[in-house]
Amino acid sequence: MGLTIERMEELKNRIRGLLKEKNAILLAHNYQRAEIQDVADLCGDSLELSIRASKTEKDVIVFCGVHFMAETASILSPNKTVLLPVAAAGCPMADMITVSQLIEEKRKNPGRVIVSYVNTTADVKAESDICCTSANVVKVVESIDPDKEIFMTPDKNLAQYAKSRTQRRITWWNGFCPIHNNLKPSQVKKVKAENPDALFLAHPECPPEVLELADEIKSTSGIIAFVKNSSHKRFIIGTENGILHTLSKANPDKVFIPVAPDMICADMKKTGLLDVVKALEQMKTIVKVPEEIASKARKAVEKMLAIPAD
Ligand code: 13P
Ligand code: SF4
Repeated sequence: MGLTIERMEELKNRIRGLLKEKNAILLAHNYQRAEIQDVADLCGDSLELSIRASKTEKDVIVFCGVHFMAETASILSPNKTVLLPVAAAGCPMADMITVSQLIEEKRKNPGRVIVSYVNTTADVKAESDICCTSANVVKVVESIDPDKEIFMTPDKNLAQYAKSRTQRRITWWNGFCPIHNNLKPSQVKKVKAENPDALFLAHPECPPEVLELADEIKSTSGIIAFVKNSSHKRFIIGTENGILHTLSKANPDKVFIPVAPDMICADMKKTGLLDVVKALEQMKTIVKVPEEIASKARKAVEKMLAIPAD
């Protein structure tokens, strides 16, 4: 059973008190539950959250997201305590490539530049030349010597999107986000036909046939910024439905139509207010990437962060 509004407010106040007491910052991804987004110090996409994690002066980072995000925070801020309130919140796509598979791939085809989506484990990042997010993938690819071949992990859809935008020689691992990859062009066409005046905004984790139908392709925060600055009133949203909370709250005069009501990432929804209270009270679960992996992974993440954002 869900929590009452009164109980939620009580828990949010408790969280605010604990954040002060522990000198902690609460970072939440745009796909988190509404009540988590509302209590967070910053709600953002993977790139914004990584940047904030690298810059915070707080002692503790509470990451309401999935495991690879907390790992990235630990890589960038090795002296901070990084807490992931629900240890089992993972990313199925990040788990689609292991470090031994990447090492084998590099052995079979040496000489390629390895570009890893931040949705990877720390040890995969450590074997990569540079990281990217959905917000900066095109810029990251463009920053690479045009004579070099590129191998992208783990998302085949993000890789194909980057290839279509840059015309670079890119091959990829066969991973995908189960939530975005499931979206069918027929579903999009149906919703578009029912809403001919709406713009279709899609995340680059969607398959190429879906992206072909999009008016704009953007990261989660890219979608939020686009909507804010657009004079359009109606939007079909092609990403995980957690983003609808921020969109509706920030734009009460605009209408948002989820392209598919089942685009829900179960892992992103694992974290509740009570989990955050317990995480701060008990200071767990601590995510700490061992320094021998972190030091290598940091190079790939920092190389990405050195590329100016839009
Ligand atoms: P962004 O918020 O960076 O667009 O990423 C989407 C995602 O799937 C994160 O897990
Ligand atoms: Fe991973 Fe997809 Fe969930 Fe993002 S939405 S955490 S990519 S499974």
